[in-house]
Amino acid sequence: MAANWIILLLVVIPLVVQSQEPGSFQTPTAFTKGQTANLHLTKGEIIPFNKRITEIGANFGVSGSFICQTPGLYAFTFYGLTEQNWELWLEMMKNDELVASIYGYTYADYADAGNAAILHLNVGDKVYLKAHDDYDQTLYGQGDQIYTTFTGELLFADNVELDAVNSYGAVGFSGVMTVNASISDGSAVIYNKAITNMGNAYDPTTGTFTAPVEGAYLFHFHSLSHSDEEAWLELFHNGQYVVASYGYTVGSYADSGNSVVLHLKKGDTINVKARPGTDVKLYGDSDEYYTTFCGALLSPTVHGSGSGQGNQQEIAFSVGLTHNEDSTNGPRVVFDRVFINLGQNFNIYTGTFTASVGGIYAFHYHALGQKGQEVWMELYHNYIYVNSLYSHTSGSYGPGSNSAVLELVAGDTVYLDIKHHDTYLYGGGDEVYSTFSGYLLSPISSTHPVVG
Ligand SMILES: *[C@@H]1O[C@H](CO)[C@@H](O)[C@H](O)[C@H]1NC(C)=O
Repeated sequence: MAANWIILLLVVIPLVVQSQEPGSFQTPTAFTKGQTANLHLTKGEIIPFNKRITEIGANFGVSGSFICQTPGLYAFTFYGLTEQNWELWLEMMKNDELVASIYGYTYADYADAGNAAILHLNVGDKVYLKAHDDYDQTLYGQGDQIYTTFTGELLFADNVELDAVNSYGAVGFSGVMTVNASISDGSAVIYNKAITNMGNAYDPTTGTFTAPVEGAYLFHFHSLSHSDEEAWLELFHNGQYVVASYGYTVGSYADSGNSVVLHLKKGDTINVKARPGTDVKLYGDSDEYYTTFCGALLSPTVHGSGSGQGNQQEIAFSVGLTHNEDSTNGPRVVFDRVFINLGQNFNIYTGTFTASVGGIYAFHYHALGQKGQEVWMELYHNYIYVNSLYSHTSGSYGPGSNSAVLELVAGDTVYLDIKHHDTYLYGGGDEVYSTFSGYLLSPISSTHPVVG
């Protein structure tokens, strides 16, 4: 009997192993949590979140911490909106280590703030959001107004085997500014501390990222200005302007940020600079990381064609707005500058993304309102509301942002709506603040159903 069982095991085990195609499939891990009601947080409290927008292969502890099960390179984004006239002061932590801070306050108004980090995690590492230890606060939320979110996604598992298409290991960095910076000559922002630098492609002495391999890359940058000062930052690809962020709040610190997905050739450089002709005053401290720049390789391409060879589908888009737009032209935001559209799933004329393959996708969106005006922007999956951004800054331009990962089946649409409230977006040829980006994280085929 015992011998028969051993023979059976010997036969069965290799079959199980062979059913995983080497070099192609990694266990997907992706989540977006949201808050659908006002939430009061006491000092140091971990945000529990009351809504799971998407949860695929993600493990959470009782307190609401994401607990890593698959070691690898992860991307995280988080956003918050205060209740009226409250301050927002949150921190993203990896175990006991600070990885990003946000602060928001607008007199007698709601304030939006957000940040991002690329992190390498080992099994058991925890990533969570908490209230700053010195401050009680109240976040705003309703069932159809989800501004406060936490999104995480596995980009590259440590044990993925490489093949001809996916021939390069993980590349990802997170730079943070731990000092104050005052820049009036349009020079580069130096995010002086690299909390992640897989592939060693980010130089914390110059603030420049140099692509070690051709492919599609994701970038996020966020900043906080000093009180009553401007933060006007621009991201450059080989010295060419791509996108910007702008923040200025009367009598307070101003948060702003942006994201973009770009196709880079080996040796291409990306950096963030202050807008020439402006006095940019950025806030930074050894235990306050508001001003950050992070990026990661999404999927290497052989020739940048995005045709998706082997098992690796390449779908990624990133678009921006180069003119003023308002809700009378809505309901959807029609972006007019394309940074990337691998797989051609984004329709520039309708502002709609239509998934050509089923899978797990990540989306990031940012907006800047016209002076003194409001922006209400909502992310939809088919006709289902996902989450929103809101921005308004009295006497200035108000920035706002949000993100989500979504599980889509082929044919599903994702778009941004501005139809429900008066919205006035600001944009120009060299002033691209409002952007929409998305990319495929993991295809889901019938032979590889997602479990858990
Ligand atoms: C940055 O400026 C703030 C406000 O002036 C100050 O409290 C903080 O200590 C400064 N940070 C550093 C690293 O000097």
